[in-house]
Amino acid sequence: MQTTRRNFLRLTSLGLILPFTSPIYCSESSGEWRFGIIPDTQWGFNMEAPFHGTAIHVIDAINAEMIRQKVDFVIQVGDLVEYSSAIAFQTRAAHNKALLDNGINFYPVRGNHDSMEINSVKQFKDAFPNLPGTKGNGGSSPKLPNADGMTYSFTHKNGKFILIDTFPLVDDGTKNGKAYTIGDYQDWINSQLLIKSDHKFTIVFTHKNLLGQNHKDNVFSDDAENQNSFPEMQNNFFSSLQNNNVKYFICGHDHIYHRSRIKSPNGKAELEQIICGSASHKFYSPEPPFLERETSIVKELNRIGFLIADVNHDQIKITYYSTKAFGLTPAVPKWEIRDSFGYKF
Ligand SMILES: [Fe+2]
Repeated sequence: MQTTRRNFLRLTSLGLILPFTSPIYCSESSGEWRFGIIPDTQWGFNMEAPFHGTAIHVIDAINAEMIRQKVDFVIQVGDLVEYSSAIAFQTRAAHNKALLDNGINFYPVRGNHDSMEINSVKQFKDAFPNLPGTKGNGGSSPKLPNADGMTYSFTHKNGKFILIDTFPLVDDGTKNGKAYTIGDYQDWINSQLLIKSDHKFTIVFTHKNLLGQNHKDNVFSDDAENQNSFPEMQNNFFSSLQNNNVKYFICGHDHIYHRSRIKSPNGKAELEQIICGSASHKFYSPEPPFLERETSIVKELNRIGFLIADVNHDQIKITYYSTKAFGLTPAVPKWEIRDSFGYKF
């Protein structure tokens, strides 16, 4: 059934419209709960008020749907704003008011557009205070200078969520500062995955991709000419996730919805990557080269979308919703289900 459905989705591509009939039945006591994931909200058309480089009308529309579907929290996979600044981050944060008024927490991780200058670290922390990993707020961050609340993990009910910031965090005297690599974080990632008592499933989030469709820089390296850069680092990361039953790696950056299976450079481990679409006016198209170690499952271009994950006791199902592009004015879009997948943990 699943293969047939996947093929159907792939073959019918943008022509497919499924009825939007997701039931709302979450109940905490029954072990059923939900969380949401919003992709990049950078908005380069309007850098002045009220936008300040963030997709305010798209954010408001997606948040309305998150509230309607009664999610417990929302994660954003970076590129919250077009160009990092205090007012840009404050504007992005202000558009979470509807979420917060409904008791829905927001957990962001930075993207490249959120880290244009080293002072973006302070600006980001000021706009999004009290994140896990910061003092007194639970969760965990690597014991590396400035990583607290920027790269972090938290648990919620039976899930664990690891968000990794691969952008400059340390002021080394240069304009942009110095970033930690996945390799710098690997011991901490291992430590988070090895604690089995506090979660039943884990999902890992970053801004950049394991392998992008359009972007060829990736989470391991800025070198767009070599997607196999730092193979040891890549192999260790893939293996640590696979060996600890992490099935999904969810990311942004590409402004494309693309679900695929990706093998490590040495072929010994495999992960499912979900590039979760665009919540922006920016859309990219796939560009070769595509590596043989990646197998595409579902792809959608040029639409605004988001994910909602339903946890039902020992199962997780993730649904991708999308709609045609909008965002210059307030809107109440008609969201359509375009992909759905999951597993039993
Ligand atoms: Fe990006």
